[in-house]
Amino acid sequence: MKKLFTSIALIAAMAGFSGLASAAEEGDLAHQVEHAAKVGHYPILKPEQIDWSFAGPFGKYDKGQLQRGLKIYTEVCAACHSMNLVSFRTLEDLGYSEEQVKAFAANYEVQDGPNADGEMFTRKAVPSDHFPSPFPNHEAAAAANNGAAPPDFSLIAKARGVTRGFPTFVFDIFTQYQQGGPDYIHALLTGYQEPPEGIVVAEGTHFNPHFIAGQSLAMAPPLSDGQVTYDDGAPQTLDQYSQDVAAFLMWAAEPHLEDRKRMGFMVMIFLAIFTALIYLTKKSVYSNKEH
Ligand code: HEC
Repeated sequence: MKKLFTSIALIAAMAGFSGLASAAEEGDLAHQVEHAAKVGHYPILKPEQIDWSFAGPFGKYDKGQLQRGLKIYTEVCAACHSMNLVSFRTLEDLGYSEEQVKAFAANYEVQDGPNADGEMFTRKAVPSDHFPSPFPNHEAAAAANNGAAPPDFSLIAKARGVTRGFPTFVFDIFTQYQQGGPDYIHALLTGYQEPPEGIVVAEGTHFNPHFIAGQSLAMAPPLSDGQVTYDDGAPQTLDQYSQDVAAFLMWAAEPHLEDRKRMGFMVMIFLAIFTALIYLTKKSVYSNKEH
């Protein structure tokens, strides 16, 4: 018991210590940028933790939010980013009917073929097609974007996540924190700002202390207040847009999150009951044996 208390006290002390350490690190931004460049440690600023509806053991996607996120993706991001592992028909998960999905898919053109003459042709997309790339190939995408091809969005919410460090990652096991991807995307989209004095960024790139691979990136700020019209009364702000599109990208990367969480919870209940039964069995089998 004493050991347990000592370990708890130790963990609490470390948590306090890391709090102090991060407070001390928060000098002015210019210093942080220089420090990050010296040690090669990015992002310069950690993402803010958003209170997502899909967090925790009973987390569920907010369908209204996913529909808004889809709108942002189609009207803004799809001009540069493909999503080539996600098929149109999965949009039914967001609450759309088969007819609506058909009409949505028909807005896109995809390449098909070859036809009887051996030639490739383009046709209107159908629900079984995937979100196509706006560029014919990787090189064309890079050439149009200052040398950096916009990454595919199918798994981006799972492919990004900022290291949490000790002791946060210990607590994450208990709070079931798995929202590093959407937290990062939201932070990146809202994180653009003027570089601090004395800091020069590479030509054609934009300063963003939340970017995971450097102090600036080739993507110009894609969103700003009032840019996309919402018809459900949600605030038309950069912060809301960024949260909605990040939630949508999480759904794209993990459409079966709700099933996984439900199954996980049932497995935990099963294991608890099973453990109790095993314990009782052990007691009854050995009850009349001498130690
Ligand atoms: C004009 C083209 C363009 C548009 C529009 C655009 N992006 Fe990008 N995006 C890029 C490019 C180019 C990169 C690669 C940047 C780099 O690596 O320097 C990128 C990279 C990203 C990344 C990855 C950053 C990383 O950690 O590597 C995310 C996330 C992202 N964009 C989100 C979005 C979202 C969300 C939207 C829509 C709201 C959007 N982008 C719209 C061009 C665009």
